[in-house]
Amino acid sequence: MTQLNLLLPTHPDKIINVAQVKQLSPFRYPGGKTWLVPWVKSWLLYLQQFDATFIEPFAGGGITSLTVAHDNLASRCIMIEKDEEIAAVWQTIISGDWQYLADRILNFNLSYENAKEVINAQPNSASEKAFQTILRNRIYHGGILANGSGMLKNGENGKGIHSRWYPETIAKRLKTISLFRNRVEFIGGDGFEIINQHLNDPNAIFFVDPPYTASKKKAGTRLYRYHKLDHDKLFSLMSRTQGHFMMTYDDSAEIEDYCKKYNLQYVRVPMTGTHHRKLFELIICDDINWAIS
Ligand SMILES: C[S@@+](CC[C@H](N)C(=O)[O-])C[C@H]1O[C@@H](n2cnc3c(N)ncnc32)[C@H](O)[C@@H]1O
Repeated sequence: MTQLNLLLPTHPDKIINVAQVKQLSPFRYPGGKTWLVPWVKSWLLYLQQFDATFIEPFAGGGITSLTVAHDNLASRCIMIEKDEEIAAVWQTIISGDWQYLADRILNFNLSYENAKEVINAQPNSASEKAFQTILRNRIYHGGILANGSGMLKNGENGKGIHSRWYPETIAKRLKTISLFRNRVEFIGGDGFEIINQHLNDPNAIFFVDPPYTASKKKAGTRLYRYHKLDHDKLFSLMSRTQGHFMMTYDDSAEIEDYCKKYNLQYVRVPMTGTHHRKLFELIICDDINWAIS
């Protein structure tokens, strides 16, 4: 087990400016990894395995897979997500009628009444469910879709539900994704199953960002509908993959214990938490040399 303190792609004390990362996801995703994108890119450039299958078993807002596909850093990407509402969005964008979704977003007249009508309706197709999900994600507190969340009241600058509803920007992202979606596969289901299927594939590269519910803080509990996870099983699986992997977790004693138990290497990286607090997260890899070379 090795624990090292920072390296690429920035100085240890410097937090990556997310404004430098190309925004490709239509979601504002709680626990999203936009801030980690430069790390993932420098890792993949180090591995030089551009014919690999990049697998993201806990896709959420999907910024990592989208970036990898957009930048041609792997020959194909497989995104997996268990939450049926998030899955409806990816199904529509990756293999369905993304243009319908883009038009629905562009033509929607946002008001509390109209939003409530959409949210309370029973969607009659996957693409309508996708629209309902994007709408809720954009007008709910923190983009949180789990039970207990609700519509923004004040939002940014008192703009309420309008503060994160950018129809043109979201529609443009869908169009951008449509240009490279032939390199992406989306699977609605259990990430564990897909990891298992690719366990012995040396050409698979895994990016694993599960709900953070292994430490005492259990930060992921209120963020996701599916937050319960067998973390020990996940560490055990990852320690047995033939291909390379990167896993991210909160910086906690419980996670360090799992790393010790499964003899996995990690680095501690800085990020900005809510209220602009500097926090650290752990990047766990099969081989951490890329980060120190
Ligand atoms: C930390 S979030 C991923 C965030 C993502 N990396 C991003 O940048 O947006 C974890 C995700 O895993 C999903 N999830 C939970 N259990 C799952 C499972 N067994 N299989 C697939 N997805 C799962 C949750 O719904 C959530 O969207």
